[in-house]
Amino acid sequence: MDSEYFVGNFQLINTLRFDAVVVGGGGAGLRAALQLADEGLKVAVLSKVFPTRSHTVAAQGGIAAALGNVSGDNWLWHMYDTIKGSDYLGDQDAIEFMCKNAAKAIIELEHFGMPFDRLDNGKIFQRPFGGMTQNFGESAISRTCAVADRTGHAMLHTLYQRNVQANTNFFIEWLALDLVRDAEGTVLGVTALEIETGEVTLFEAKTTLFATGGAGRIFEASTNAFINTGDGLGLAARAGIPLQDMEFWQFHPTGVLGAGVLITEGVRGEGGYLVNSEGERFMERYAPTAKDLASRDVVSRAIATEVKQGRGVGINKDAVYLKLDHLGEDKIKARLPGIRDIAMTFASVDPAKDPIPVVPTAHYMMGGIPTNLHGQVVVPNQDGIDEPVQGLYAVGECACVSVHGANRLGSNSLLDLVVFGRAAGEQMAKDARQTSHKPLPADAGSATLARLNRLDNQKQGERVAEVGASLRKTMQTHCGVFRFPDLLKEGVSEIAEVVRRAQFTEIKDHNKVFNTARVEALELDNLVEVALATMGTAEARTESRGAHCREDFAARDDENWLKHSLYFRDGNRLAYKPVRLQPLTVDSFPLKARVY
Ligand code: FUM
Repeated sequence: MDSEYFVGNFQLINTLRFDAVVVGGGGAGLRAALQLADEGLKVAVLSKVFPTRSHTVAAQGGIAAALGNVSGDNWLWHMYDTIKGSDYLGDQDAIEFMCKNAAKAIIELEHFGMPFDRLDNGKIFQRPFGGMTQNFGESAISRTCAVADRTGHAMLHTLYQRNVQANTNFFIEWLALDLVRDAEGTVLGVTALEIETGEVTLFEAKTTLFATGGAGRIFEASTNAFINTGDGLGLAARAGIPLQDMEFWQFHPTGVLGAGVLITEGVRGEGGYLVNSEGERFMERYAPTAKDLASRDVVSRAIATEVKQGRGVGINKDAVYLKLDHLGEDKIKARLPGIRDIAMTFASVDPAKDPIPVVPTAHYMMGGIPTNLHGQVVVPNQDGIDEPVQGLYAVGECACVSVHGANRLGSNSLLDLVVFGRAAGEQMAKDARQTSHKPLPADAGSATLARLNRLDNQKQGERVAEVGASLRKTMQTHCGVFRFPDLLKEGVSEIAEVVRRAQFTEIKDHNKVFNTARVEALELDNLVEVALATMGTAEARTESRGAHCREDFAARDDENWLKHSLYFRDGNRLAYKPVRLQPLTVDSFPLKARVY
């Protein structure tokens, strides 16, 4: 191996050494990597795909910040909206941190070269988004900064270019496999597979960051890219780290019927609206004030209810229409060019003329690897106090800090990536400067070698694709927009069976070079961890809160359930910890009924 970072091999695994290893080349990983590289540290970014193809590229509608460019705004209003949107499960200190730092993050992106759309007066363009209001819920506000309907694309390219300039080392088309921890639990790096050659390398690092994005591929119908297989969560769970709030999955109200591809909420922000088979603007009945711009869980449930009550559209009457022709071709071309292409390609309709058939589609995981405000992964000690896992950090969708609680507001996720990406990078730089590389344990890499040997030697078994299809079908049927007690119970045992089957998959082609079946098998190991955690926590939470809506427990239950769930893989164990209701510098927002 020809690299200035090569330090030899360990158990026949090539070993490279860095100050920081960032797993994931999306918005969060790139923002953290940039911080580290700019501070002069040696950084490696491992990415399964070329970084600008990471799933951040698919973020359409925008990034929230109380800039007040269209009308007066205040970060406290944004904070209130986010807490209410989270159905009070979000931690108020983390939400304060994010909303207070939002404007700074936008200006920083602008200075990095991100080409935001402009208002006539030259200021950054902002559009309304669901649940974003002025004066603590009074009326809708334009708070979401956008680059047409390709905001994530613009952000990702901007951050990638800045990283190239800052000399970040990119390892492209590499799949992280397992965490390396020593006897004290300190994280010393990761093992990873180079997809092109099939070779394994140990990336030794003082600090390791997971920024691996979501895991929406546990569902059949998802807006997520095929790469969103919950890799960071799988690695964390296998290394004994709990997963937090995994029962909370967001279904985006407007995925294209049949394809699942996202149609941005920005369409409704620009004035589009939903109608049922009777041509009725049904959201007026479910959210009399916010209507189509209520929070996503509310809109998705309204669509599912319309369909259930027989007012759906399409051949199977299982969708509703998103109407935007009244916006006019000029506005659609200027502000929503991407969704016009998507509608024409995936629904065969030109939205300037005809409505788009849409359905709620799995979109975002509110839960993830528990962290504090600095991106440090935390695990409760014996007294229930969160303590950092030395050397390990997580940020973005794979992390749970928790700013989104039980339901995320649209356009808060790009914000989460850059605010906490920067915070994690700062903390990692500080920690890396204060520590030296610790010796690798004798068994470093052995978990990885065992998994690969199992795959290479398994001569009879099911195909990975079959087991993956069962997993997605089970999750879709048993853990959707509405959750039913019998389906949840069955789902728990069906997923346990999928997990069993996943241990005996066979890859037909044992050629290690560019063997996508091998990669899919390794990804399935991560998907099953996410599915197990989701099913178990969803069955256990006997209340409805945010996106977790149970038919048998229809109300929010603050007395018993105002708490975060923690899923531990060992023994399928669940634990709970309190929500942090005390912000950093302002008064707490009291719990209220959540209506839009
Ligand atoms: O609808 C959208 O543009 C999605 C944005 C988001 O998930 O934040």
